[in-house]
Amino acid sequence: MTDTVTNTAAAHADAILEQARRRCEPPLREAITTLPEPLDLMAAYHLGWRDREGNPTGAGWGKGLRAALVFAAAHACGVDARTVVPAAVAVELVHNFTLVHDDVMDADRLRRGRATVWTVWGVPQAICLGDALHALAIRVLTAAWPGSVGVEAISLVESAIVQLCHGQSRDCAFETRSGVRVEEYVAMAQGKTGALTGCATALGALCAGADAATVGRFETVGRELGLAFQLVDDILGIWGDPATTGKPVGGDLMRRKRSFPVVVALSSGTPAAAAVETLYRSARPITEVEAARAAIAVQAAGGRSAAALQADQRVAAAIAALPDPAGAEDLLALIHFVSRRDH
Ligand code: IPE
Ligand code: MG
Ligand code: MG
Repeated sequence: MTDTVTNTAAAHADAILEQARRRCEPPLREAITTLPEPLDLMAAYHLGWRDREGNPTGAGWGKGLRAALVFAAAHACGVDARTVVPAAVAVELVHNFTLVHDDVMDADRLRRGRATVWTVWGVPQAICLGDALHALAIRVLTAAWPGSVGVEAISLVESAIVQLCHGQSRDCAFETRSGVRVEEYVAMAQGKTGALTGCATALGALCAGADAATVGRFETVGRELGLAFQLVDDILGIWGDPATTGKPVGGDLMRRKRSFPVVVALSSGTPAAAAVETLYRSARPITEVEAARAAIAVQAAGGRSAAALQADQRVAAAIAALPDPAGAEDLLALIHFVSRRDH
């Protein structure tokens, strides 16, 4: 029975994400073709639509989770979700800008199973592309809502980006710092991930005409969901299957990431924790074998189960923040989706 319920919710979430991707794809394609070359090609490459030479790939772009959150929030406010397409496109553009920059910060060579933009065109070009996608998002919003809603929408987006940059800054700083506390980690993750998912749900409500208090509640839903998403991301970053995540196995450990499971493990005071701390403090690169051993140690020190528990608590908080469960079935399906995904 529970399996049937879970499978039905998963199928519902898949359908919602698919619909969000379908709705956004034409305007997203159109938006990036307005970029001057070679930024247009780099954007199409990053989104998976073209190879580095510019040949169409026939592949899709990302999960579309943030777009789906915009639509689901608008739907929960009783508005036809198609009226908020530009808001969903803007949030996806911002998200992709942050991914392009994030891969530079993390020195990640692979995303969605493909070479990252900076490895193909170099770091300076990747910075330019990220900035251009950010600017494009604002242009899409102002074109769709030239009046006061547009101003409020931009304010939401830019505030979220400031918080996101703060979270990213903390995340990078944690790599070379020991003794990161769980609360510090949570504040960092709320910034780097929760801010934009909170912005997505808030924007959906705002563009659907909701009042400020309702927009605020939807923002909380998205923030909590984003934190749950990041906790699952952290679990996948250590124990995920590279075939489904498209990222190298043990990548977070090899990069000495102080992700939630690691922070919990390191503060456990167990012998397993001491071994991981010693490994993180060593000056030489961490090998795949060492990362695999560290993954076992982090799990033995309770890092994995604590991350899963914290993710469940954030899911419960997201559900509790929903202003009215009526009409919120799409949001509920997405909330469940983030806590059960494997990629
Ligand atoms: C990405 O964080 C967050 C942003 C892009 C703001 P991570 O670095 O933890 O995520 P992945 O694993 O590269 O997607
Ligand atoms: Mg990264
Ligand atoms: Mg990162």
